[in-house]
Amino acid sequence: MRNRVVLFLLHTLSWLLLSSDTCHGGESDIRCLETLKHQLQDPNNYLDSWAFDNETAAEGFICKFNGIECWHPEENKVINISLINMGLQGQFPSGLKNCTSLTELDLSNNDLSGSLPVNIDEFIPLVVKLDLSSNKFSGNLTATLGNITYLNVLNLQHNQFNGQIPWQVGRLGRLTTFNVADNPLSGQIPTFTNKRFGAENFANTGLCGKPLKDCVGPPKKSHTGVIIGRTRTVYKADLSNGSLLVIKRFPESHHSVDTSYLRLPH
Ligand SMILES: *[C@@H]1O[C@H](CO)[C@@H](O)[C@H](O)[C@H]1NC(C)=O
Ligand SMILES: *[C@@H]1O[C@H](CO)[C@@H](O)[C@H](O)[C@H]1NC(C)=O
Ligand SMILES: *[C@@H]1O[C@H](CO)[C@@H](O)[C@H](O)[C@H]1NC(C)=O
Ligand SMILES: *[C@@H]1O[C@H](CO)[C@@H](O)[C@H](O)[C@H]1NC(C)=O
Ligand SMILES: *[C@@H]1O[C@H](CO)[C@@H](O)[C@H](O)[C@H]1NC(C)=O
Ligand SMILES: *[C@@H]1O[C@H](CO)[C@@H](O)[C@H](O)[C@H]1NC(C)=O
Repeated sequence: MRNRVVLFLLHTLSWLLLSSDTCHGGESDIRCLETLKHQLQDPNNYLDSWAFDNETAAEGFICKFNGIECWHPEENKVINISLINMGLQGQFPSGLKNCTSLTELDLSNNDLSGSLPVNIDEFIPLVVKLDLSSNKFSGNLTATLGNITYLNVLNLQHNQFNGQIPWQVGRLGRLTTFNVADNPLSGQIPTFTNKRFGAENFANTGLCGKPLKDCVGPPKKSHTGVIIGRTRTVYKADLSNGSLLVIKRFPESHHSVDTSYLRLPH
């Protein structure tokens, strides 16, 4: 009886291993690269070595493709995709979704354009390094970037991204490199929970707040005012980040100024 149970378990286990490794796992990654090749325009033919038409192809054949590294050289399971400086055109390739074990994606120095998928976290959930620098990507940075939990390196430098950096990005606890320099981004830089990044990572943007200069926007009329009392003068202004700036000035001394920032209820 006991032997039978063990035998049954062994059977189930080997069936699971076989089905996940040789059928679904590899198939999915092959499909991923096949779709990727379709979705990227490759005017310089760097991806010509990506040939899928060989029916008798050996296990691990995609691992020899230009720019592809596998977890194991004899297994069609992609760990790194690194297609740098190839003049590639097109949008962020949705086919990546089928490379389910991908940990590094480097598409830097190409001519890729368009906005990132709103649900980018579903395409590259396990990626540790994402480098899309020096392309022509545009549009908003999606808040779901903050859900790619294992990200260590996020390099979006030198693109056309606009709007704000979603605060969720500041929540990425493992980030060691973060760069959004040379993008028409604007608004307040989010607070990063675990790390401070130097001003050079935010250079040539319309961003404000640490490590760049403070976000003191043009005051809105509704809440701006000067109240002159007997003992002090109070200046109030709405800041663009939703805080109320209150400055109290005491007439006894020109140098006696009390400044406070209050968070406004919305
Ligand atoms: C097809 O794959 C087999 C086995 O890997 C290899 O020997 C052969 O050269 C390949 N043929 C082509 C046209 O790539
Ligand atoms: C993936 O690429 C990185 C370099 O970006 C390298 O350090 C790492 O060893 C690569 N992984 C494999 C399995 O080749
Ligand atoms: C992933 O592969 C499946 C078939 O294996 C395909 O139907 C699906 O469209 C692919 N997904 C993407 C995002 O390309
Ligand atoms: C970008 O985000 C802003 C708000 O932050 C929104 O008003 C705008 O419609 C968004 N643009 C796109 C293209 O999603
Ligand atoms: C991130 O993932 C969590 C849990 O899956 C989800 O509740 C949340 O909406 C996601 N955040 C974004 C910005 O998609
Ligand atoms: C708004 O900006 C001011 C000046 O930079 C800063 O002191 C304050 O903490 C900010 N408020 C919020 C809620 O970030």
